Amino acid sequence: RSLLVLNGPNLNLLGTRRPETYGRDTLADVEARVRDAAAARGLDVAFVQSNHEGALVDAIHAARGVRSGIIINPGAYGHTSIALHDALEAVQPLPVVEVHISNVHRREPFRQHSYVSPQADAVIVGAGVHGYTLAVDHLAELLTGN
Ligand code: DQA
Repeated sequence: RSLLVLNGPNLNLLGTRRPETYGRDTLADVEARVRDAAAARGLDVAFVQSNHEGALVDAIHAARGVRSGIIINPGAYGHTSIALHDALEAVQPLPVVEVHISNVHRREPFRQHSYVSPQADAVIVGAGVHGYTLAVDHLAELLTGN
């Protein structure tokens, strides 16, 4: 079984963009940790990052029937994208975990609404990049016995 780990806009700059907010790990570092955590649970990982909303929609559609769950950090599109909301709805009942590295609720008001959250089985915010491996563990638990 495999998981799709989807990262949205600007997350390619992880490690250099606002390190005081997002930490110093790069996206490649995160990918390595996620792969380790998933392997420990017997899961493979497909890792996709895009700065383009439509490419994220395409990646979600492509997960249907192929992946066993989705971990998504939608970046700023979480705050704006009805298209991501609808794409995740379209691939139900695939389990979805939304991750935000920073505690968005402690930041600007415009970060406190997510179009993705209503489609997510779990939301992990403010745990830093550790949130991704927490998400792997949660999906592994959900998939146990399925
Ligand atoms: C983010 C939070 C968003 O508000 C922001 O636009 C990002 C990163 C996070 O992981 O904390 O790009 O999703």
